[in-house]
Amino acid sequence: MSKYIINGGRKLRGTVRVQGAKNAVLPLFAAALLTDERVVIHNCPDLIDVSNMARILNSLGAETERRGDTVTIDTGYMRSYEIPSRLAGELRSSIFTLGALLGRAKKAKVAYPGGCDIGLRPIDIHLKALCEMNVRIADRYGYILCDATDMRPADVTLDYPSVGATENVMLLAVTADGVTTIANAAREPEVYDLQEFLNAMGARVSGAGTSFVKIEGVPKLKGAEYTTMPDRIAAGTYMIAAAICGGEVLLRNVCPEHINSLSVKLREAGAEVKADGSEILVRSEGRLRSPGCIETRPYPGFPTDLQAPIGVLASVAEGTTVVVENIFETRFKHVAELTKMGASVKVKDKVAVFTGVKTLNGAETAAMDLRGGAALILAGLRAHGTTVVNDIHHIERGYEAPEKVLSSLGADIVKV
Ligand code: UD1
Repeated sequence: MSKYIINGGRKLRGTVRVQGAKNAVLPLFAAALLTDERVVIHNCPDLIDVSNMARILNSLGAETERRGDTVTIDTGYMRSYEIPSRLAGELRSSIFTLGALLGRAKKAKVAYPGGCDIGLRPIDIHLKALCEMNVRIADRYGYILCDATDMRPADVTLDYPSVGATENVMLLAVTADGVTTIANAAREPEVYDLQEFLNAMGARVSGAGTSFVKIEGVPKLKGAEYTTMPDRIAAGTYMIAAAICGGEVLLRNVCPEHINSLSVKLREAGAEVKADGSEILVRSEGRLRSPGCIETRPYPGFPTDLQAPIGVLASVAEGTTVVVENIFETRFKHVAELTKMGASVKVKDKVAVFTGVKTLNGAETAAMDLRGGAALILAGLRAHGTTVVNDIHHIERGYEAPEKVLSSLGADIVKV
């Protein structure tokens, strides 16, 4: 089992080109199922989650090929409409294949999805929306069986602006016969990226990025070539690294407005954050003050995926920081590991109260989920002494070679 070994205390200096967005590219892979022509996706990060999604498509008969950061998907031949549990269990995004398979073949059999263990993560909002579009759904031995033969467009109102449910309805509705609307849609930039990709394939989708999305069904989609948006969570993680370690880091290939909620908090904490076009510069002395209260919210609020990383800043910032996790139920599991390193944190239900300490100390730790694992890397970079992060397969689901990125900035981190 691989692990990261980090000798902390180094300032970070240099330039990072931020990877393409995991959470954008996974639904794009599912969307490729909607055409029998070839699609080409550029700026595609090389991650465990992305290769698992490719394996899911391969199991359906599709061919996938990676050259550098470009992936070509050919779904001309499909031999199956079933996603077995051994594959669906690997990642939550397997659920997107439901809408896309139904759009392509009008039938699907998908095992319940897996993904990070950060809460209940039900799929009731997805299924309710599909029901409203007259998809017949049955639940059999851990599989969801769907028949969309009598599918019709609908005006769907989501009970909650779920990212995945918004994307699933879009994937199903693009080839429905008529106009579907989604009210209370998720406004995340990844939803907009999916709209743009679908439109490049010949779909007619508008409104993504707002809470009302309109999909005018078209009979058929065609192949497309597309460049995935930058990963705002990876960018945010490296921004926090620069802020807590001190130094000067320039991030290239970012959309600054996507991470505004983080930039505001870093400035409140005393770091300098300057945005210019597709670049962000973070400069910090490493001595930070509490940014007050941070509450995770759907976009454009503070992202739940940066809650664990910002908690490391809260651990070392002078004063008390209150972090409220409003999206997922069990997203503070990494806090026990931070406490081992000397952080002072009290957690009750969805609230964590951090009392900033001057130093963290290196320790042997283990990642329990993707973003909590990234937080342990950040803590190791800031700590005195040596930190070991075990179970890094969780981290590699979402960060492309973080040890190389951080070493290039002067950090002492190796993967062994
Ligand atoms: C996506 C992101 C994930 C991010 C999350 C919130 C991908 C691949 N993953 O996950 O990184 O943390 O958005 O920004 O894009 N919910 C239900 N029923 C449902 C669906 C969701 O109760 O049918 C709940 C979830 O349990 C959670 C909340 O709604 O508490 C938000 O979930 P959702 O927006 O759907 O997140 P994902 O699409 O799973």
